[in-house]
Parts: sequence; C-alpha cells; structure tokens
Amino acid sequence: MTNRPTGGPLPTLNVIGCGRAAGSLVRLWLQAPTLRVGAILNRSRSSSQQAVRQLGAGAAAESVGDMPAADLWLIGSGDDQVLSVARALAAARTDLDGALVFHLAGRFGLEVLAPLAEQGAEPAAMHPVRSLTHARLSIADFKGTACVAEGSPAALDRLQPLVTAIGGLWLPVSDIDRGLYHAAVSIVSNVTKGVAWKAQNWLTRAGLPDATATAVTHQLLATTLEDLFRSGAQQSITGPVVRGDTRTVEAHLEALRSSYPDDIDVYRILARTVLELAQERGDLDAATLARFDTLLKG
Ligand SMILES: NC(=O)c1ccc[n+]([C@@H]2O[C@H](COP(=O)([O-])OP(=O)(O)OC[C@H]3O[C@@H](n4cnc5c(N)ncnc54)[C@H](OP(=O)(O)O)[C@@H]3O)[C@@H](O)[C@H]2O)c1
Repeated sequence: MTNRPTGGPLPTLNVIGCGRAAGSLVRLWLQAPTLRVGAILNRSRSSSQQAVRQLGAGAAAESVGDMPAADLWLIGSGDDQVLSVARALAAARTDLDGALVFHLAGRFGLEVLAPLAEQGAEPAAMHPVRSLTHARLSIADFKGTACVAEGSPAALDRLQPLVTAIGGLWLPVSDIDRGLYHAAVSIVSNVTKGVAWKAQNWLTRAGLPDATATAVTHQLLATTLEDLFRSGAQQSITGPVVRGDTRTVEAHLEALRSSYPDDIDVYRILARTVLELAQERGDLDAATLARFDTLLKG
C-alpha cells in the first residue's frame, strides 16, 4: 500500500501532534515535495486548525477516529504523550495495515509504538538531532542534520527517502540504550550553551564589556569546535589541567570564591571531567593528579 513506485502519487501523511518539531519537518517535506498532508490532529481544535493554516496543507481532524487511512503517520506529540497517542490510534480501528508510523522522541525506541505494530503498522523512531521551532526553516538549513532512526528493515526503507529528501543525515541504529543516548545528545547541546552563558557572566564580572565577553566566548567556542572536529576531544584538549598547572587552577577557584562563590561547584565538576581526559591520555604524574584531586573535590 505504501511503497509507491518512482513517479507514482505522493504518499499521504497524517500527523498527530503537529507542533514545533513535526510542523518543521512537514513544512520541509512539502517544500521537497515528498508527500501530501492528509489529516492533522492536535490536542485542541484551534491548534489543529492553526497548524493547517500555517502549513497551507491538510485538514484539521476532530479526533483520532475521524482521521482517514494514510500511508504515513507521524506522532509528533510531546514525549509524555507518545504512548497514549499510540494507544488511542490503535484503538481507533483505523486501517493501519502496512502504514509507516513514526515518532520523533529521542527518549524512545519502538516499544512505545507496540500497540500499533499489533495492528499491522510498521513502527519507526526518527530523532532529528537539532532544535526545531516550526519557524521559517528551509531544506538548506536542515541539510546535514543528524536523523537517528530505528525500525524494522521495511520501516527504515520507507523512512530513509523522507529523511534524505530534506537533506537529513541518515543514521540508522538498533537497540540502543535510549536513556544514555538522550542524556548524551541533550547534554552536548544544552550544557554547551549553559557553560557559554556562565563564561560570559564571569567575563563581564571580570570587567569586560558585554559585547567583548560575547565575542570572546563565541570565538573561543568556534575554534574549540574546529579543533574538536579535526582531532577529537582527547587529542585537542589543552589548558591548565592537562598542563598540570595546579597553581593556576587554585587561582581560578580563589577568583570564583570572591566573585561567584555559587559557581565553584560548576567549575570543579567541569574541571574534573577535563582531569579524567588528561588522566586517560596519561599526561599527569601521580603527585599532580593527587593535588588536582584534592583541589577539585573541594
Ligand atoms: N522541537 C524540537 O526541537 C525537537 C527536536 C527533536 C525532537 N523533538 C521531539 O518532537 C516531539 C514534539 O516536540 P515539540 O517540541 O514539537 O513539542 P510541541 O511544540 O509542544 O508540539 C507538540 C504537539 O503535540 C500536540 N499534542 C500533545 N498531546 C497530544 C495528543 N494527546 N493528541 C494530539 N496532539 C497532541 C500538541 O497540541 P496542542 O498544540 O493542542 O497542545 C502540540 O501541537 C517530542 O517527542 C520531542 O522530543 C523535538
């Protein structure tokens, strides 16, 4: 039903939960164009109608049972609602036989879609690893976005063309530890922003004008990323911890104690991570490691 031959009619996509993420992707699929939009269902009627208006496609549904059969179903509700949406769709007696049903929650694999697999649907998980805001997003912006996908071979065969049509980087996985995976992708993006924000606060407290603090932080981040991509974390890491400059680290802690005492623990935890890297690389002798251990334990 759903594997269209090349040049055949575009498959129809129904969306349950057309918010920031699903709305952004649907917009791109319409630009490609890769599919037609069938029915859209959000929690509230006005929100479903707004999504239809914003996309200029599809029809607002009144309920899950009101949604006609489709080739593709996207569950784009918040993480906590994916399972209940899947259950509601499975209970709606819609024809799901052979339909590809996928969600966008990095936190989950296929287990949350089990009720739909029992109805003959092909379940898949597709996590676009970037922030999606449903604002003006073009295929050029999306190009290269890591799209981590999980599903049966048949489901992946159907999902891959959708991802590549909008420039996504196709990254299939299977049976991964979703807790650790999601912790990792959340931390790398959000903690980087949190650390940059802390650094900017410290720089302005140190007396740098706001614009200078921003320029220093952004420039440093840009070159850090270049180094990281070129040689990896272990090879590219530098600074007082890997050099073994314990007195410099003592001075950092002293400065924070007088200007930003609440941030000392943040510094210690982050510096301990760097120390672990230095230790793994074998840079430091036992005495230096012990000195750092005492300093960074607090
Ligand atoms: N946004 C991102 O940057 C991003 C990136 C990658 C993955 N994701 C994943 O994408 C999913 C959606 O995130 P989001 O940021 O797009 O959330 P969002 O903007 O809050 O959108 C969620 C949508 O789901 C609808 N919804 C919630 N419960 C529903 C239900 N029971 N039935 C029908 N519709 C329901 C909401 O309707 P109302 O408008 O009526 O409340 C809303 O339109 C999450 O699993 C998230 O982890 C998000």
